[in-house]
Amino acid sequence: MLSRDDVYKELGIGPAWRLRDTASEARAPACGWDELSDAVAHCTRCRLSETRTQGVLGVGDRDADWLVIGEAPGADEDRLGEPFVGKAGKLLDAMLASIGLARDNNVYITNVLKSRPPGNRDPEPGEVAACMPYLLAQIELVKPKLILALGRFAAQSLLATGAPLASLRGRVHAFRTIPLVVTYHPAYLLRSLPDKARAWEDLCLARRTMQRL
Ligand code: URA
Repeated sequence: MLSRDDVYKELGIGPAWRLRDTASEARAPACGWDELSDAVAHCTRCRLSETRTQGVLGVGDRDADWLVIGEAPGADEDRLGEPFVGKAGKLLDAMLASIGLARDNNVYITNVLKSRPPGNRDPEPGEVAACMPYLLAQIELVKPKLILALGRFAAQSLLATGAPLASLRGRVHAFRTIPLVVTYHPAYLLRSLPDKARAWEDLCLARRTMQRL
């Protein structure tokens, strides 16, 4: 039997369309943190479970106003079971500190995918769709006032668009009813110093938005 991805491939439907149904159709399971942690730890909803070391749920303050969402665990995160613990994580901590935040104080950090794609390849639409209920459950549990989406992949997945990151920055979107601000992924900023100034503008926009809420 053809999978949904095979059908998309057959039909030649592009990534933006494939992503479009992901965040809008997926439903959060009604559950608490214990069930969610357990479900992610034992998840076999996609084939990433065959290659990951462990599922990486998230870290930080579970009652946070700020929800920071990245792409997927990398090698360090897969090994240690916590998001953003490598070099990109150090930069993320510095970015948060620049607007007076810290990862364990009023901030919760997670990723769109809870399992590492092998070799850090891009996540596939079927993997995003399979993982989306976990992210939705986290959003329902944390009840953040604002979401900060890190990088093209998180932004496009949450906003169900194929628009480039540059066109998504600089304004406040909504994920369902929650204000969402887009900025560069810290791993990208490590390679592209000139965009750090733009990331600072994004963080200021996020901070101003939060202050108004
Ligand atoms: N990049 C991400 O998007 N998430 C992590 O947890 C680490 C690196």
